Amino acid sequence: MLAFEALRAVDERDAYANLVLPPLLKKAREKGDFDGRDAALATELVYGTLRRQGTYDAIISACIDRPLREVDPPVLDVLALGAHQLLGTRIPTHAAVSASVELARVVLGDGRAKFVNAVLRKISQQDLDAWVAQVAPPYDKDAEDHLAVVHSHPRWVVSALWDALGGGRAGIEDLLEADNERPEVTLVARPGRSTTEELAAVTETLPGRWSPYALRMAEGGEPGAIEAVKDGRAGVQDEGSQLVALALANATLEGSDARWLDGCAGPGGKAALLAALASERGAALLASEKQPHRARLVERALAGNPGPYQVIAADGTRPPWRPGSFDRVLMDVPCSGLGALRRRPEARWRRRPEDLDGFAPLQRALLTEALSAVRVGGIVGYATCSPHLAETRVVVDDVLKKVGGADLIDARPFMPGVPALGDGPDVQLWPHLHGTDAMYLALLRRTA
Ligand SMILES: C[S@@+](CC[C@H](N)C(=O)[O-])C[C@H]1O[C@@H](n2cnc3c(N)ncnc32)[C@H](O)[C@@H]1O
Repeated sequence: MLAFEALRAVDERDAYANLVLPPLLKKAREKGDFDGRDAALATELVYGTLRRQGTYDAIISACIDRPLREVDPPVLDVLALGAHQLLGTRIPTHAAVSASVELARVVLGDGRAKFVNAVLRKISQQDLDAWVAQVAPPYDKDAEDHLAVVHSHPRWVVSALWDALGGGRAGIEDLLEADNERPEVTLVARPGRSTTEELAAVTETLPGRWSPYALRMAEGGEPGAIEAVKDGRAGVQDEGSQLVALALANATLEGSDARWLDGCAGPGGKAALLAALASERGAALLASEKQPHRARLVERALAGNPGPYQVIAADGTRPPWRPGSFDRVLMDVPCSGLGALRRRPEARWRRRPEDLDGFAPLQRALLTEALSAVRVGGIVGYATCSPHLAETRVVVDDVLKKVGGADLIDARPFMPGVPALGDGPDVQLWPHLHGTDAMYLALLRRTA
């Protein structure tokens, strides 16, 4: 029931599963008769059903005699939850079918419960591999459609990710599967404020893969319970985000290195790491964010930073600072988020290709202003948490062509020890290759 309520909220209210679920779980716990295992199961059912929705929709479609769009959304949610229990979990068939039919009876009525029963009985007749072999078009006939059904991504997303990744079938299949895995929780020990040793002493962790400040939490760890996280000396941050901030901070710079800007700072993960690094070097960070409520999150993330910093709410396309004011500038621009699909199970179904047209002018304007904000010889980092070429290379190339006065520099040496960074000069991280979100970074040096 709880999983169904969460799916309805995601569907009806465009809610995010990771925001909807915790209050529902809390309410269930308060009512009693609901323990940690029930919560883990409900979470897995919601996330698993949302992630695999594309595959389940294709299977449900093959089991009914009308188009999917003519089935009421609550009925589809019950069917998808049932399909996930049957095909994606170890729940015994009879238990999965009877629980789903009972749910349908309560929330949809007897007539529709019969329909749910009939469809789920058909689905239960074979396993996931057999279903996928039956419903996915052959790879040789339509590779993108095949991958879309097998790995449960919209076709346009498969196509965009494949364009950005390049290469053959194995790489894209690994990437799409990595998007369907639950990401590890990664901690950052903000330099000068806490250490990885301090964090490892209070919680079970594995070392980070690439960032010297990262630790990977063991399954089931509670980052919010760690004192250093509570008081902001450490945080939860994907290693890809850490690498982006570190590369900007470590890129070679001649002359003054005293004033840093984060121009799109909310909610403040990279700004907090940059501020800590800046403090160690005697530099100051200005963290700027357009949305006042997100600027407040940045303030919270930076509170207690030992060195000088300031947080402001400002539109980075109409900035209050004077041109040439900064030595290092990060523009981590708003984007489609196609690089973080592991974290937001519903995001892939909600995004539309047209969304990119909305981001395009903003991304160009923010990068243009970043180049103007930095002094001659200073460094700009243009970052996205999307690998879509229209948000990464194409933006950088367009702006360089249009405004000039800057050179791309090779970002790879500033991510030392990280393999498979491509041919440069920009870098693209990947979930399946680096275990990070698919963060993109281009480093530009202003020349004129
Ligand atoms: C990808 S997020 C930045 C993430 C952040 N760097 C971090 O690591 O926590 C992009 C941010 O840019 C903000 N934003 C959108 N338009 C903006 C603008 N015109 N000027 C400044 N910030 C803007 C969004 O509100 C959002 O908080």
